[in-house]
Amino acid sequence: MTVMQDNRKLIVGNWKMHGDSAMALLLTEEAATCAAKARDFAQVVLCPPATLMHMVARTMIGSLVHMGGQDCSPAAEGAYTGDISVTQLKEAGCSYVIVGHSERRAMHHETNEIVCAKSKAAIGAGLIPIICIGETLVERDAGKAQEIVSKQLKESLPQGHFIVAYEPVWAIGTGRNASPADIESMHAHIAANTPKGTQILYGGSVKAANAREILTIKGVSGVLVGGASLKPEEFNVIIESAA
Ligand code: PGA
Repeated sequence: MTVMQDNRKLIVGNWKMHGDSAMALLLTEEAATCAAKARDFAQVVLCPPATLMHMVARTMIGSLVHMGGQDCSPAAEGAYTGDISVTQLKEAGCSYVIVGHSERRAMHHETNEIVCAKSKAAIGAGLIPIICIGETLVERDAGKAQEIVSKQLKESLPQGHFIVAYEPVWAIGTGRNASPADIESMHAHIAANTPKGTQILYGGSVKAANAREILTIKGVSGVLVGGASLKPEEFNVIIESAA
């Protein structure tokens, strides 16, 4: 299947378990202002914790900012204490949802099969899943990065429209980046194993200082930003770096 081409860079902020209402208001207002200026070259998605979605949704009305969930249940509804369904995300105002983040794979024992089921549920509800994949440092040092990523792709990807985020686990929240050559070669590998036109984001310690370099690497359609998305001055520069 060929996916519709949009050449604008996708800049996704993953707030993880950070923030309160005041911060959500500030970050969304700042992102909305910046997204308007960057409309020709960047699309901005904010992924707040579920409790802050109402604040983000309210603040982003009339702006070009979109919202995403950080996770979803593969189940439609039922006795799943603490989980959140795709229809609930949709109703809250989300158009995207991150699935298979390495923190969930590691801390909540999510397998490729679970990630695939979540992605299917998201697509079924009209959400675009941002499917995270990436190798650990041990796997990279053992020369197995491509093999691991291939397996994750083969087992995690659903039919339909999705986005892939390549996030080497050792680069997340560590201040370490993959080298541009490593990013380019892994993105080419992912592109060769996904439908033509699939957007492939890079994530892992993306910040104002390295965003431009990363966003100009061949095959990088955007970035998934954790820590730096919590600081408006950093996140704004990242959005502007897509120019
Ligand atoms: P980081 O997180 O930017 O803080 O490294 C990225 C992510 O986990 O998506």
